[in-house]
Amino acid sequence: MSDIRTHFFTQFNYTPSLAVQSPGRINLIGEHTDYNQGFVMPAAIDKSVQVAIGKRTDGTIHMAAMDLNETAVLSIENLKPHATQWVNYIIGVVHQASITQGFDICLQGNIPIGAGLSSSAAVACAVLFALNELYALQYTKMEMALMVQKAEHDFAGVQCGLMDMFASLHGQKNKVILLDCATHTYQYYPLHLTDYSIVLFDTQIKHALASSEYNTRRLECEQGVQVIQKMYPQVQSLRDATMEQVETCLGPSTATPPKIYQRCSYVVSEILRVQEAVIDLETGNIPAFGKKMYATHEGLSTQYEVSCPELDFLVDAVRLNENVIGARMMGGGFGGCTINIIKKSALATVTKQVAASYAQQTNKVLAVYIISIEAGTHVIK
Ligand code: GLA
Repeated sequence: MSDIRTHFFTQFNYTPSLAVQSPGRINLIGEHTDYNQGFVMPAAIDKSVQVAIGKRTDGTIHMAAMDLNETAVLSIENLKPHATQWVNYIIGVVHQASITQGFDICLQGNIPIGAGLSSSAAVACAVLFALNELYALQYTKMEMALMVQKAEHDFAGVQCGLMDMFASLHGQKNKVILLDCATHTYQYYPLHLTDYSIVLFDTQIKHALASSEYNTRRLECEQGVQVIQKMYPQVQSLRDATMEQVETCLGPSTATPPKIYQRCSYVVSEILRVQEAVIDLETGNIPAFGKKMYATHEGLSTQYEVSCPELDFLVDAVRLNENVIGARMMGGGFGGCTINIIKKSALATVTKQVAASYAQQTNKVLAVYIISIEAGTHVIK
């Protein structure tokens, strides 16, 4: 990546006050559980966004997105959602932090857009972290994660959970993070994959319904909780619900629409699965962990219905391959990547086979990313 500070200088003709890097994320297990107050297990990756920032003396924000070759200028007063999405990820956090002094900002990145690696959260985290430093705002990383989430709700229109921004900000090298989305407490686990690598297969597809279906899933889960609450008032979210309660209140013998039952069964079983997967990690039982990834995919595809033919194809393509310990779709769904745990010695053969069959099936080129786990948002020299 070329130097973001140099870009800033070229663009604004002075040296920036600071530059910040914020990574994309993977999620090992725990999908669509964050907004249900469950557990997730993300990690920050070696693909990131960089921003350089400098103060202005007036009340305007001058923005330059180097990769898109686009610029925007806005007054810092009365910020409202903008027609250009990348602008929203900047002004959304400016609004959250109630910044009143203008600034110049320039950004670039190498996180593939629309691949489900949270490039948008990385932009917002980089900007807020930079503003936090620039104006000595003293927000903690968790406070910033919550502000970025709120900015995404208000400015980008996606009712996302906390996982993406949390992971981008809190990542640590070679560690996955178990986040409890109910209490916001978290724990780092060293990831010892020894003979295995984490590999993403990017469908290079992003179906248009992704964000509207995402918001619908959230509502369906809330509807399920409302029904369960009639019998079990103590249940505040699907995190509190048991499979028995789901069966009793939402199951086939009830008047609840089958879709609500399917959505909630998936979420409750996934929350349990993450807790069991932690034990697999602790005991180094990677094969057991991998089996759970396949089970997650099955649930996301058949019960939660957020997969798509391309993602299912990629998981099916490796399911019987003994060199692939686990695979599943990752992130919100309807396109993006599958995450795979693949034996290092078989990496070249497996990726070649999968790419060839994917091309034959879809006429699309498969993008392959071998991932390393890196540090979260930080200032760069
Ligand atoms: C998207 C959202 C996250 C999370 C995942 C699904 O990435 O931004 O909050 O809900 O989907 O696990």
